Amino acid sequence: MKHVKLGESCGLKVSSLSLGTWHLPRLSEKDEAGAHKIDYEEFKKVLKRAYEEGLTFIDTANRYHGGVSPVPLTHVGNAEKLLGTAIRELKLDREEIVIATKVGVRMSPGPNGEGLSRKHIMWQISESLKRLQIDYVDIYYAHAFDPETPKLETLTTFNDVVRRGFVRYIGMSNIPVHHLVEYIMLAIANKLEPVAVLQYRYNLFDRGVENDIIPVAKRFGVGFTAYSPLGEGLLTGKYVDFESKRWVVPPGSRAEYRDLSHMFTERNLQRLLRLKELAGEQGLTLPQLAIAWLINIGEKVWKIPIVPIIGITRLQHLEEALMAVDANLSHDALKAIDEVTRGPPLS
Ligand SMILES: NC(=O)c1ccc[n+]([C@@H]2O[C@H](COP(=O)([O-])OP(=O)(O)OC[C@H]3O[C@@H](n4cnc5c(N)ncnc54)[C@H](OP(=O)(O)O)[C@@H]3O)[C@@H](O)[C@H]2O)c1
Repeated sequence: MKHVKLGESCGLKVSSLSLGTWHLPRLSEKDEAGAHKIDYEEFKKVLKRAYEEGLTFIDTANRYHGGVSPVPLTHVGNAEKLLGTAIRELKLDREEIVIATKVGVRMSPGPNGEGLSRKHIMWQISESLKRLQIDYVDIYYAHAFDPETPKLETLTTFNDVVRRGFVRYIGMSNIPVHHLVEYIMLAIANKLEPVAVLQYRYNLFDRGVENDIIPVAKRFGVGFTAYSPLGEGLLTGKYVDFESKRWVVPPGSRAEYRDLSHMFTERNLQRLLRLKELAGEQGLTLPQLAIAWLINIGEKVWKIPIVPIIGITRLQHLEEALMAVDANLSHDALKAIDEVTRGPPLS
């Protein structure tokens, strides 16, 4: 596994692939709230295998459960708890792992049960550390924009959690670009802990960040991590019957409990049929092409590391993903993929 320095503005090195925990390996059995029970043994196998391969950059959030979305308030925190327990039971070396978690989305029903206020952040960092059974997290992201809290209140609180040793680096996720730039510049102007890393949705079919967020990451030397690199499974081709050229929902897939139907369009179907051919020409599967494209476009087009955060629900997905990390896509291959996914033209 290759490791990359996340961004110009910080010294943190991470594996070039990250493992997400929004959706975990799950059993078909559901609890009384309709949440899938988690296949904890399979999750441990995934985590162990990832660690053995040097995939040591793990992404979670205070709100994640692992088997339901959206997450009812009765189920929040479950993914952090399982991750913490698995790290301990597997006896993984904490100092070899980079753990990222997030704050900002709703955790309890009261007026301070969500957001980026000092009260909420100070409460949630201590809760996350308890659930994860660790002394500090490496990256602490603002999970979503909070229009009600002054930006300096959030930034000074983030500065404090770093100073108090609870957090090493600050990140931002899903924040609209003009607010993001304000956070970045306010931190610089006030000599507060800088925004070191960003996390936004980026994949072959979702390329909006190329217009604004990636240029900001480049301009300020901030690291960039890409969530839903497989388009929540769409880009694996699992929702296409390639013989009959029709959409299908395989039993046990995410689309059975989370509505992905807005992505099942004729345009996406045609694009997937073509991408499958292109993947074949590269000796790759569709999920491998999607992962390799992000890593290659980061290296060769944007000239910043782009770290895909993959969702893994079974060990064999991880094996497939690991083989994509070193795939080298030529300029011609990137150009052909670009034509299908209609991003900005490559020169
Ligand atoms: N900051 C944010 O707001 C935010 C939002 C979303 C995600 N994230 C982070 O990003 C991580 C990844 O997001 P994501 O889960 O949407 O990512 P994704 O990698 O786009 O999708 C993962 C899903 O694709 C399917 N899959 C993966 N490999 C496969 C393979 N080889 N063959 C067939 N199917 C395969 C699995 O679906 P099945 O369940 O159908 O098996 C898996 O759950 C999350 O875990 C989380 O840590 C952050």
